[in-house]
Amino acid sequence: EKFKILITEHIAEPGIELLRKQPDVELTYDPELFRNFERILEIIPEYDALITRSGTPVTEELLERRKKLKVVGRAGVGVDNIDLEAASRRGILVVNAPTGNTLAATEHTMGMMISAARLIPYAHKSLKEERKWDRKKFMGVELAGKTLGIIGFGRIGSRVGIRAKAFDMKVIAYDPYIKREKAERLGVELVDDLEELLRRSDIITVHTPLTDETRNMITKREIEKMKDGVILLNIARGGIINERDLYEALVSGKVRAAAVDVFTKEPATDNILLDAPNIIVTPHIGANTFESQTNVAVIIANQVLSALRGEEVEFA
Ligand code: MLT
Repeated sequence: EKFKILITEHIAEPGIELLRKQPDVELTYDPELFRNFERILEIIPEYDALITRSGTPVTEELLERRKKLKVVGRAGVGVDNIDLEAASRRGILVVNAPTGNTLAATEHTMGMMISAARLIPYAHKSLKEERKWDRKKFMGVELAGKTLGIIGFGRIGSRVGIRAKAFDMKVIAYDPYIKREKAERLGVELVDDLEELLRRSDIITVHTPLTDETRNMITKREIEKMKDGVILLNIARGGIINERDLYEALVSGKVRAAAVDVFTKEPATDNILLDAPNIIVTPHIGANTFESQTNVAVIIANQVLSALRGEEVEFA
């Protein structure tokens, strides 16, 4: 009997192809299915494996319906859409592709940082859509000489740090889970407490997973401790920076500008942040490069195959 694999979101072709050519696999690729949770609940009992991105909520309710589900594969890094505890209680493996889209997220962060510092999308809109030639209005700040505070100095945070240094920024980082030497080797100063980072940084970017520990890590209270005119970036997960508090800080001008790719509830077409001034937003496209999506699709396909065949895999 073949392994039945269900994919509920868009995954790059090389990963699909890899699965299709396996003689022991029967693949259902339905990239829009994540929009129809009820349907997923209905059909999940037939499947041995489920592959998702961040749009499919892999809840206890869904896992409970499984009959033979052995593995959930997350084509990406963040597993916050999966109830890990509920999966583990049922003996269902959860695997991800943590290295595949590191560079895409890093580069999107750099793009968002420059966009926020110079309000590039606002200038673009003014010229292209409003046909205005307004050179006075768009005054930005330079990155060189400024202090970048990185919260979460893992795969993505550390690469953002390396790139920021090439822009002549001073880089400091807060991450209780990494060794001081790792930061020092890269010429980055690791600070012992979050408060110090908040106080010293001109630009702050978060690169942590979303967990109980990081949800609402940045609220009104933390924003008050920051420099006036700070720039904030969230290319990690919605909710690490409290959305309402960020909105208010943008309105008051305490935060000069922000750039946000991720939201507490996605699709985020009516999020409060869309009404804030000086905010650059993108629809969770941090991982969207051809290179990354190919990497992630191939990695997750291999991870899921290994898990199904009882070979060794690394858990998420
Ligand atoms: C990830 O966690 O890998 C990203 O958010 C990318 C995605 O969900 O597509």
